[in-house]
Amino acid sequence: MKLLLVLGMLTACAAGPQDLSGKMFTFPQKTNTANVRLNASGQDFSAFTVCHRSFTDLKRNHILFSLATPNNANDLLVFWDEVNKEIEPHIRDQKVEYGKPDYKPNMWHSICTTWDSTSGLVQIWFNGQPSTRKYITSGSNIRGNPIIILGQEQDTYGGGFDVNQCFIGMMSDVHMWDYILSSCEIQNYTDELNFTPGNVLNWKALNFQIVGRVLIEDKQYTCH
Ligand SMILES: *[C@@H]1O[C@H](CO)[C@@H](O)[C@H](O)[C@H]1NC(C)=O
Ligand SMILES: *[C@@H]1O[C@H](CO)[C@@H](O)[C@H](O)[C@H]1NC(C)=O
Repeated sequence: MKLLLVLGMLTACAAGPQDLSGKMFTFPQKTNTANVRLNASGQDFSAFTVCHRSFTDLKRNHILFSLATPNNANDLLVFWDEVNKEIEPHIRDQKVEYGKPDYKPNMWHSICTTWDSTSGLVQIWFNGQPSTRKYITSGSNIRGNPIIILGQEQDTYGGGFDVNQCFIGMMSDVHMWDYILSSCEIQNYTDELNFTPGNVLNWKALNFQIVGRVLIEDKQYTCH
């Protein structure tokens, strides 16, 4: 038992940061366990930008990005609400709704979310298109050792997964910055051109741990 545990830990540590350029995580199955845990740099954020690309055919609610701190399981999450057909950023347990984006199934979609604690304004960029800037919460930072999870939504710090909110599909190019990117940087991210990689999460040097059936595969490009 002990040896297995030690071996498991060695594998997790030996991996180190990996360059996942051109790769994606495939979440092929409905479970309340399979997930990828990402190791962030930093644990006090007065502002952020988080960007990810995802591909799914789900016709129910699902999570796209879940960051919990010891203070708050919903410190930062990006959620698709199928009933109201809207993307919902949640920050510090507050949420706003962005209705009726063109969230077609079986297509890659880039979603970037920005926020700063001074103005309290949140904004999403859906496939490079800006949305209305809305007030969500201000005056306090996202603070405390973050647990960041792809594939499952945390209802508790690092757990409390709901099988009916799990993500099934592919995810790629996950980056997080501790500041707000310019619109040109976001455009470049969306178009897969040059941009400054995330300084909190960097897809090109990602510290992560896979739990359960999640695969690292080559990203599929459409052949023209
Ligand atoms: C997580 O990141 C921190 C800071 O970058 C590093 O010190 C630590 O070893 C990392 N942990 C794992 C499990 O990779
Ligand atoms: C966007 O990408 C182009 C082409 O690679 C590059 O010339 C430009 O400097 C980039 N803009 C930003 C803001 O990084």
